[in-house]
Amino acid sequence: VIDIRSLYAKTGLFTYDPGFTSTAACDSAITYIDGDKGELLYRGYPIDQLADKSSYIEVCYLLLYGELPSKAELKDFENRVTRHTMVHEQMHYFYRGFRRDAHPMAIVTGVVGAMAAFYHDSTDISDPEQREIASIRMIAKLPTIAAMAYKYSVGQPFVYPRNDLDYASNFLHMCFAVPAEEYKVDPVVARAMDRIFTLHADHEQNASTSTVRLSGSSDANPFACIAAGVACLWGPAHGGANEAALNMLRQIGTVDRIPEFIERAKDKNDPFRLMGFGHRVYKNYDPRAAVMQESAREVLDLLGVENNPTLQVAQELEKIALEDPYFVERKLYPNVDFYSGIILDAIGFPTSMFTAIFALSRTVGWIAQWKEMIGDPQKKIGRPRQLYNGATMRDYVDISAR
Ligand code: ACO
Repeated sequence: VIDIRSLYAKTGLFTYDPGFTSTAACDSAITYIDGDKGELLYRGYPIDQLADKSSYIEVCYLLLYGELPSKAELKDFENRVTRHTMVHEQMHYFYRGFRRDAHPMAIVTGVVGAMAAFYHDSTDISDPEQREIASIRMIAKLPTIAAMAYKYSVGQPFVYPRNDLDYASNFLHMCFAVPAEEYKVDPVVARAMDRIFTLHADHEQNASTSTVRLSGSSDANPFACIAAGVACLWGPAHGGANEAALNMLRQIGTVDRIPEFIERAKDKNDPFRLMGFGHRVYKNYDPRAAVMQESAREVLDLLGVENNPTLQVAQELEKIALEDPYFVERKLYPNVDFYSGIILDAIGFPTSMFTAIFALSRTVGWIAQWKEMIGDPQKKIGRPRQLYNGATMRDYVDISAR
């Protein structure tokens, strides 16, 4: 590792690194990835152990404060979060300003940014107490905000949060309960939802997290910073990939058509890629994909769709690709998005909600990274350099002579 900052101070040398493939923009103690080993750790704990043993809300505490909570700490944290699950009643008017067919991510981006207009008492980033309240507010309200976006898009009345339910069950309740009908959240479905939240909670300096850090480096208020992260996540190369993976599995349709698509993915003259395969950092099995595969099976068994053709195609495609020299040589393994779309679809979410669910899961990661940056004594405003390749200096030409 070369400390370019001190080299720059001494010699004026700087580096050109589009896409930041080899430049660290910060140091961080939150999440660790070893892409070659297929390892992902939150604060040192392996993701598979957390997905197996912890609830998402416990993982939130871990990411935010660095340690797993004691029973009393967890209870206190849960109480603090549930006290803030409702959104300001006036926000309902804000929703009604959107077109009925607005994409949920357009609504979530706008509403999260607008929180700064509703919660003035948590926008002063120099006050640690205000930073803390803003963090808790966002973790508590993002499920409500995302569920309201969904309800709005299907023309159903908003459902208020139920604080007697756990985080995942409450989200499912707000999405799927309808007036005058009893809705009971199945614990297997709630557990799968909770695991999806956990697996997406943080992933170190990806595009949206870097966006949050860069926005926050100017001391912008936390709601504006998280809204910037949501906007970045919306891109199909980032948060939109599970939607693309599910569409691809449906397009393949039946197991007998897999070889045709494998051949297309290998053909350099065909732009088709196996969606949900490959990762910039993981050059081994994405540890989150293993947990997702298990969850997909549980949910589909429960819902009586164990013969689901999409899951069958996914499992067979994975088997064939993992034995094919093209994928083996390039270290292309299924990533987290390969199975998460199947689960969300089976639970009943439309594909337009997939990225909004990713955003609500990732909110805690963005906040933990933002807090770490604000507290860093070395904090500097983010200001990437450029290699200028435009025109050299020339004289102005009057419009009559152009
Ligand atoms: N299908 C077929 N071939 C692939 C795939 C794929 N999914 N992914 C990579 N390759 C091939 C490339 O064609 C290239 O082959 P070559 O060396 O013969 O030219 C080689 O593997 C290396 O690929 P790069 O594009 O250089 O790898 P990079 O690290 O830049 O890309 C990425 C990673 C973008 C994730 C890529 O694997 C991809 O497009 N995957 C499909 C989309 C996807 O699933 N995205 C979700 C990522 S996870 C997340 O965002 C939460």
